[in-house]
Amino acid sequence: EKAGFDHFMLKEIYEQPKAYRDTMMGRISEDGRRVALKEIGMTLEEIRGIRKVQIVACGTAFHAGLVGKTVIEDLARIPVETDVASEYRYRSPIITPDTLVIVVSQSGETADTLAALREAKRNGARVMAITNVVGSSVAREADDVIITQAGPEIAVASTKAYTSQLIAFYLLGLYLAEKLETRDEKWIANVLTSMNQLPEQVESILDQANVLKQVAESISKHSNLFFIGRGVDFAVAQEGSLKLKEISYIHSEAYAAGELKHGTLALIEDGIPVIALITQEQLYEKTLSNIKEVKARGAHVLAVINAGHEGEVSKSVDEMFAIPRTLPLLAPALSVVPLQLIAYYASLALGHDVDKPRNLAKSVTVE
Ligand code: F6R
Repeated sequence: EKAGFDHFMLKEIYEQPKAYRDTMMGRISEDGRRVALKEIGMTLEEIRGIRKVQIVACGTAFHAGLVGKTVIEDLARIPVETDVASEYRYRSPIITPDTLVIVVSQSGETADTLAALREAKRNGARVMAITNVVGSSVAREADDVIITQAGPEIAVASTKAYTSQLIAFYLLGLYLAEKLETRDEKWIANVLTSMNQLPEQVESILDQANVLKQVAESISKHSNLFFIGRGVDFAVAQEGSLKLKEISYIHSEAYAAGELKHGTLALIEDGIPVIALITQEQLYEKTLSNIKEVKARGAHVLAVINAGHEGEVSKSVDEMFAIPRTLPLLAPALSVVPLQLIAYYASLALGHDVDKPRNLAKSVTVE
């Protein structure tokens, strides 16, 4: 059932190109220029009436929501708040009838996420669910449901479910942009063209897994490290850090690169690994200067960069991993893949149970 892979997690990492294709399938018009989300029952008037969006989820699904916030704000120009469900449900959030609440849950059964959904509905908000399981509690109770077509995810550490959630957010962002006319048709068609290239681009990353295995093996000798990035790179840094923690038990922290100097930089000492994501063109110089700051204090820096930037970045880092060129907003769908593989191979190198990490369950149906 592992189809020749040693672990479900590795199999699921390799299933991502298919998960991307399946999640896009049937949701893009034949001419490739428009998003068709027939599952969304909101009228144009209702969409125009959305004053704010709240994205609520747990763990990895929450990290997908962090990217979703940037996507929706950038494409549809609607303000978006994000919350972990266990906080949202108890903080008496301001939920109005013109709030769209989006819950994200692979399983659709996470107790806190379900409670957040119910709280939102009680307050009269429209609730949209992004979930991988048809007929799950979240799917049944939400007003609108976008099913991610990742297929069953067995490994406790979520991989293809996360990236399929990103695809769902891209589709939703484009859908809202088209309805609200915040972006023109040509621009939307251009993003869709780039989205269609993602599956092959992920394949090209997977072909370089052996490089990441070596990186992971050297990381596995450390007990602390940092992930840094700005913008959506910071969102991906948080996911990379969680993935590494949960299956390798190595402590890491994800930091917004510009925030380091407000305290955390004190922890940077000789030899500490720093994984820096630097894929966002508009933030490139800023992140590069943060990389130089940690490097000057002895950090061993692995930079996840855009292909073509090798020459400029190589002087400031120890190692580089290049992802294929795409639009800045879409980069998370590529840049997270090397981080998943690093987590996998680090866990393997340390001899842990990759698919069933200690203390964790696949579906958290109790608070
Ligand atoms: C981490 C992981 C968890 C889940 C979280 C939410 O790899 O899998 O953080 O993302 O428990 O689960 P769902 O998406 O089923 O609500």
